[in-house]
Amino acid sequence: MFEAAIYKNRRNQLISKLDKGILLFLGNNESPMNYPANVYPFRQDSTFLYYFGIDLPGLAAIIDLDEQNEILFGDDFSVDDIVWMGPQPKMAELAAKAALTQVAPSAQLKEYLSKALQQDRKIHFLPPYRQDNMIKLQEILGIRANQLKHYASVPFIKAVVEQRSVKSEEEIEEIEKALDITYQIHLEAMKSVRPGLKEYEVAGILQGKAFSLGGRLSFPLIFSVHGEILHNPFQLNEMQKGQLLVIDCGGEAPSRYAGDITRTLPVTGKFSEEQKAVYQIVLNAQTTAIEMIKPGIKYRDVHLEAAKVITLGLKELGLMKGNIEEAVQAGAHALFFPHGLGHMMGLDVHDMEDLGEDYVGYDEKIKRSDQFGLAYLRLARELKPGFVLTVEPGIYFIPQLIDLWQKDNKFSQFINYERLEAYRHFGGIRIEDDILVTENGSRVLGKLIPKQIDGIEAIMQG
Ligand code: GLY
Repeated sequence: MFEAAIYKNRRNQLISKLDKGILLFLGNNESPMNYPANVYPFRQDSTFLYYFGIDLPGLAAIIDLDEQNEILFGDDFSVDDIVWMGPQPKMAELAAKAALTQVAPSAQLKEYLSKALQQDRKIHFLPPYRQDNMIKLQEILGIRANQLKHYASVPFIKAVVEQRSVKSEEEIEEIEKALDITYQIHLEAMKSVRPGLKEYEVAGILQGKAFSLGGRLSFPLIFSVHGEILHNPFQLNEMQKGQLLVIDCGGEAPSRYAGDITRTLPVTGKFSEEQKAVYQIVLNAQTTAIEMIKPGIKYRDVHLEAAKVITLGLKELGLMKGNIEEAVQAGAHALFFPHGLGHMMGLDVHDMEDLGEDYVGYDEKIKRSDQFGLAYLRLARELKPGFVLTVEPGIYFIPQLIDLWQKDNKFSQFINYERLEAYRHFGGIRIEDDILVTENGSRVLGKLIPKQIDGIEAIMQG
């Protein structure tokens, strides 16, 4: 945990943005795998962590704006718990670490909120994403679980998003710890990958690496020779000579801050000429995008610029044709680059996505497009100092998408389908780094993980 004053200051800042009612924060509970006592690794709710810091299940907290009260709800461990789990801190000790003075048993949460409802006071809650918390809210508020998201408090969501979007120095330090783990994972991969191994043989080592460094992964590892499948969870393929391997992974620091970096490796340790050409286009798009990042720029404009670099490169390869601006405006590049350039990152790898992607990445000035590809852009709005975001362009050859578009002759003025045939089995390439928006520009966070062609080849060839 950070020092107690940090949590108090964060809460005071939040309080200053909202005027009436009760702010409710539900921590997460243990999540059973196959029976109640056999649980998935515990992950605290990130907003709860941000304002209260306590990384334990079964907690809730309120900030009563009318009564100027802050209360942590949780139960002290019983001696039976301690027999199985060892000595545990008292709730009051945990509360003190977050600069809270009032603690109450869990059962009193419902009482407190029911009384407030009878007094016609507003209870502000955030969109719940776990079923057990939905049931808890349904019981307390009398709103059906499947309707809760419509009743979540928009002012509360907006205030939290505004605050969590701007990372403080101590948060950047934690993100860089997550990136140290991420760095070690990628270096391990570059040294371990070789033809003939199954994907899981290396993927398992990489997950172990995160644990051996005292962390874990911030999201399930993407490790695939079929990188054209954007979030491929399958890891049973044998890695073969001539294939490209996409590794999209993030360490999670013990504080729960995330990293998220992608590298694409040639399985043999040496890119073919054809692979080099496509790789260099993606790298150029990423470099262009990173160079553009500064306060005030709209991330959608950065995304579109990266799309133009990709279109230009593909035109030079003979895979696209026509006017580049018009091709990007029409969305023709999305056959090859069908996702957004990046997203916010912090305590969550897709930071605050539970609060609503549009609150995080869009605002009154910029609305989400419904064009294929651009619609997947998670972050479009103007950047501000303190934002941490990913820059992750890619080029993919997705046979099913190519076939679908070709059948309709879609964008045939921009796409050279005949030439594309030779690339059907190319796979995919994505290159991703995590960037801090500074007062004047940006800084790439973490130690540089090689991404130039010769740098990757040098490490892979030992
Ligand atoms: N790096 C995984 C994702 O952004 O979804």
